[in-house]
Amino acid sequence: MAAKRILSGIQPTGTLHLGNYLGAIRNWVDLQQDYDSYLFMADLHAITVPHDPKTLATSTLQVAATYIACGIDPERSTIFVQSHVSAHAELAWLLNCITPLNWLERMIQFKEKGIKQGENVSIGLLDYPVLQAADILLYEPDFVPVGEDQKQHLELTRDIASRLNFQFGSEKKPVLKVPEPMIKAAGARVMSLTDGTKKMSKSDPSEFSRIDLLDPPEVITKKIKRCKSDPIKGLAFDDPERPECNNLLGLYQIFSGQTKDAVAAECADMGWGQFKPRLAEATVEALRPIQTKYHEIMADPATLTGVLLQGEQRAAAVANATLTRVKDALGYAPAFH
Ligand code: TYM
Repeated sequence: MAAKRILSGIQPTGTLHLGNYLGAIRNWVDLQQDYDSYLFMADLHAITVPHDPKTLATSTLQVAATYIACGIDPERSTIFVQSHVSAHAELAWLLNCITPLNWLERMIQFKEKGIKQGENVSIGLLDYPVLQAADILLYEPDFVPVGEDQKQHLELTRDIASRLNFQFGSEKKPVLKVPEPMIKAAGARVMSLTDGTKKMSKSDPSEFSRIDLLDPPEVITKKIKRCKSDPIKGLAFDDPERPECNNLLGLYQIFSGQTKDAVAAECADMGWGQFKPRLAEATVEALRPIQTKYHEIMADPATLTGVLLQGEQRAAAVANATLTRVKDALGYAPAFH
């Protein structure tokens, strides 16, 4: 039996942070052992908000290098650049024409990001989840491993696939496979260091709200030292009045490799002055090997572009087959060659 498949991606806008690592990449590293894995840099998504053309290409390569540095193995997983496989944009158009507008107006991310941009908000930002649906459906994955914030987009993807199947397929012969989200509890929602009720995000204007995977040790230590805490002595998980405490203990649990009970016992009588240096040290040590490997990969651009070329070829073969099937179902004239 063929291995089950996963697919996921990250936007190459700025350096990746702990949320991207713990909510997504770290899980992919484990999953690639058992799943046929398609992992890409969502550079078409990256221009849905104003972007700098001078940095887009470099950011895309940096995200690819980060995947590999975190443990994604290019021999096991297909790593590719979204814009290199034109089927993504093409299927997005076909899906646009079967997706009701009001499904998109409901999307939380559109509302949040759209408010920030006022009248300059682009159609691309509204349409972003349809492109995401195309990204996913082209590869017929069984599961899409993401952080909690992507749940609504995955539900929309399922709705779009089901609608297309209903309109153009039959129960016995669906056109598109309807995928399942895969959201692992630990790390699914890493919160901002300056406000424990908001998720850690690349678009937060404050650098101190997040830890980037490439932050040097002294920066990590400084960010943790300055991060928001509370005046209570004794640290505990799951107190709704203490969102920062829960978030920081969660990070410590992951980076120190301990169980929740062990961390709860270790920190029960601790104050912040004692806890923060421990968290900083655990974080620095967990990121150290990733950073070393990242710099090695970036020093050898030919190998990296080789990986992406191979990835593009493997990805395009799968994506084009799905695109052709959808076009057939929609009644397009086959290409005359
Ligand atoms: P993006 O680039 O915002 O985030 C990439 C991944 O990181 C996860 N993530 C988090 N997880 C936990 N805590 C956080 N604070 C946190 N912040 C981000 C996200 O859930 C995601 O898994 N639309 C997507 C990119 C995309 C995609 C796709 C994903 C485009 N096409 C197809 C899956 C399948 C996005 O903007 O992710």
